[in-house]
Amino acid sequence: MNIDDAIHNRRSIRKYKDKPLSKEQIVEVLDAGNRAPSAKNRVQWRFHVFQGETKAKLIQVCREGFEKLPKIPLMASAANSYNIMDQAPVVIVVLQTCEWGGISAEIQSVSAAIQNMLLKAHSMGLGTVWINDVLFVENAILDFLDIEKVESEFKEMFLDFDKKAGIEIGYSGPLIAAIALGYPDEDPKRDPRKTLEEVTFWHE
Ligand SMILES: Cc1cc2nc3c(=O)[nH]c(=O)nc-3n(C[C@H](O)[C@H](O)[C@H](O)COP(=O)(O)O)c2cc1C
Repeated sequence: MNIDDAIHNRRSIRKYKDKPLSKEQIVEVLDAGNRAPSAKNRVQWRFHVFQGETKAKLIQVCREGFEKLPKIPLMASAANSYNIMDQAPVVIVVLQTCEWGGISAEIQSVSAAIQNMLLKAHSMGLGTVWINDVLFVENAILDFLDIEKVESEFKEMFLDFDKKAGIEIGYSGPLIAAIALGYPDEDPKRDPRKTLEEVTFWHE
């Protein structure tokens, strides 16, 4: 698939077939994310992949955390987003490292990685949706991830990368998003968009 096909035809997919993905497929998607540009080449993303039982537990954490919150209109889509994550065979939770304290450059790096994964998945015949509704339950998810434990297991790997770069180790910090991933079971129409004219200002 060429780049224009991927950009023009990718859609958010909110219905998935009950069909598992191979580890190789998931790794291909993650690898596309890991090839994104990043501020100072500091690779400010961490990917946590959930399937099966661990995914079910993640969704339970989201739903229970959400139940406890006072509700505002902005939250109207959250329950549906958790249902989508429940239905998709794979959920990738994307975190940002907090080396520089969560500044905009780091968020941009992580967003580039997410977009790479969405486009790569589409090119493989897979569907995705980028889910921010997990942010309502960020603390519950971060507790559930037990990041310190996970990262201590990878410490040598981080040390190696960071030592070569001559900098401090960047540990995982804020949650950025989740990505639902699986075989699409719908073919949604394109959402209406603002035109290029509406969003572009030419300075000539
Ligand atoms: C930052 C971001 C957050 C999003 N969060 C959610 C979400 O929580 N739940 C959801 O169903 N869709 C979510 N979406 C998907 C958007 O609704 C979708 O991209 C938009 O409607 C355009 O449709 P398209 O992706 O099919 O082009 C999000 C997209 C972005 C970029």
